[in-house]
Amino acid sequence: MNKMFRAIGSAVFAMAFAAVSPGFAHDHATGIVKERMDAMESMAKHMKAVSERIKNKRDLAAIKMDAEAIAALAPHITHQFPPGSTQHPTQAKASIWQNWADFESKARVLEIESGKLAKMSSDDFGALSTQVRAVSQACGSCHEQYRAKK
Ligand code: HEC
Repeated sequence: MNKMFRAIGSAVFAMAFAAVSPGFAHDHATGIVKERMDAMESMAKHMKAVSERIKNKRDLAAIKMDAEAIAALAPHITHQFPPGSTQHPTQAKASIWQNWADFESKARVLEIESGKLAKMSSDDFGALSTQVRAVSQACGSCHEQYRAKK
């Protein structure tokens, strides 16, 4: 019985861990693919910190720093997807390069929305959480179209 509980416990742990660290794929990645995966992971960490602060209504003033970090990474996204960079284990879809202008504009939306978030006062919780949603949608709308599911 004890053993079974432990098994369940570690399964739950594994699930929780998968949720906080969305990709292990980058373990085998190299070159520019690894570079962009690392940058994406870093943005994900910042986003996670932001959503936790919103959820718990705590440390709202610190959201600015995370938003700044995302806004600093966003302008580099397009440089990290040179044509033909589809090496294993990438999840980047080939359609990125067929719709390059759209891909660029999605990266730009993230830059703009995270930049706005970085400039916001933490006094207005409603406005702050609305803007956090806008940033998160900027991530999601690009993934939906250009990132293959594992
Ligand atoms: C302009 C498009 C675009 C935007 C905006 C974008 N992403 Fe991504 N993201 C991608 C693509 C494409 C991949 C797949 C890259 C690959 O596997 O080579 C990816 C991969 C990832 C990964 C997986 C990395 C890995 O190690 O496999 C994470 C995590 C991630 N993005 C988080 C974010 C977060 C958080 C944001 C917003 C703050 C964001 N992304 C914004 C396109 C985007």
